[in-house]
Amino acid sequence: MHQFEPSEPIQPVGSQDIYSFIDRSKQWVLDNLPLMNGDVQAGILSLQEMACLIQPLVTEAQYLLANYELEDLWMARMLIQPLGFLISSLEKHYQERQHTAGTALRHLKGAEDLLFQLGKVANHPPRDSHYTNYLWNVVAPPLTYTGDPQEVFFVRSVTRTNELHEDSYNALLSICKGELSTESDDVCDAIKHATKNILAVRDIYRSFFHKDEKGVRNMDFDFFVQLRTFKPPFPIKGINWTGANAGNLAVQMCLDYLIGTVMAEHSDFIDTRLRLLVGEDQAAIQAAKQQPSLLDRLLKRLRLTHDEVQHWDDEKMIHYFHQQDFGLQHAITAYGELVKAAGEMSAIHWSLIQNYIVRPGKRLATEGSRLAVSPEIGLTNTPHEKIKQIMEMRRNHPKINRLLILLG
Ligand code: HEM
Repeated sequence: MHQFEPSEPIQPVGSQDIYSFIDRSKQWVLDNLPLMNGDVQAGILSLQEMACLIQPLVTEAQYLLANYELEDLWMARMLIQPLGFLISSLEKHYQERQHTAGTALRHLKGAEDLLFQLGKVANHPPRDSHYTNYLWNVVAPPLTYTGDPQEVFFVRSVTRTNELHEDSYNALLSICKGELSTESDDVCDAIKHATKNILAVRDIYRSFFHKDEKGVRNMDFDFFVQLRTFKPPFPIKGINWTGANAGNLAVQMCLDYLIGTVMAEHSDFIDTRLRLLVGEDQAAIQAAKQQPSLLDRLLKRLRLTHDEVQHWDDEKMIHYFHQQDFGLQHAITAYGELVKAAGEMSAIHWSLIQNYIVRPGKRLATEGSRLAVSPEIGLTNTPHEKIKQIMEMRRNHPKINRLLILLG
């Protein structure tokens, strides 16, 4: 493990000095953080020593910002990235040794002010997030806490999921906006394209369980429950911030709005997550929420109200459906397949929670292990039951289920 080499003090500081610091600190995290975390866990590096190794980065970042008017959103985001990995790791170790949340910041001089300032300019949480860890961590090799290929596999799974969902979102948005008329032959193709993508996400979730020819799983059942402990919640300037969580992927929330599966309760839940998202994602979610959904568009073409769908009896609905033109019948059938795919995707994700958190968590509890993030809750303190409800919403949406009666 080598010391971070601070650059010579230079006045005035220019943007190239900041970029050079970002590059050096990212490289330092890549080269040293997994080793440090391993050594702390093996008991051969003390937490004081780890804090001393991290301090020069914090001090240099502080010096740079004291001499540079930081206004660039992306510069601030890139500065948070390596610092977030380091500070969260130290915090995890403190919390696992019974220290109160926020102890790492108390041992790193200037770190709390620095994160706070960066978060404000970045329009981003003042710590590591699903952006710093996944969406903005696409250059190979990615920054990790552990250096383990299983963590890299997780990073890649999230970024690929994000790409697939974005592609589906774009395909459906043209229909929801009314740019692609529900009368057009292309509607079925757009819906089928989104379905294919969502099934590909389902397969990404499934691939966690896959084993190679030597019997090694893409992710071992016990690995994830430990990995998530690198993202414990802690307060910054009195406000609690939860850590990097794939569950905060804005595009999943936007896609649910466009498909039309979001129920009022889930919408409230999404609103509670907005503070964990960058400004542009908050705006995207608000826009998706305002947009007529695919369900709205199809019902409009069917000349049915939401109320009629819920209250007509099955026979009347089916009779009405068979009076419609084939184009519309095909579009409804494609929509049914899309909703089914989203339900299957969610069901596999639920089985990940059971196999990678709940079961190993129960075993570790009986062994008396103290984890910085409890296996009984999600990273944002969400009970697992809530995630089950989201799955049920996608699989068993009361209104959509009524509509799908049409498909027999
Ligand atoms: C071992 C694998 C995984 C496990 C055990 C797992 C576990 C969890 C847990 C516990 C939550 C609730 C977290 C909270 O918000 O407090 C959650 C939510 C979520 N996770 Fe995962 N996850 C895994 C992989 C992934 C991957 C690869 C993605 C891809 C982006 C993902 C996407 C999501 C999403 C979108 C949610 C929000 C709930 C939803 O929309 O269904 N997860 N996950």
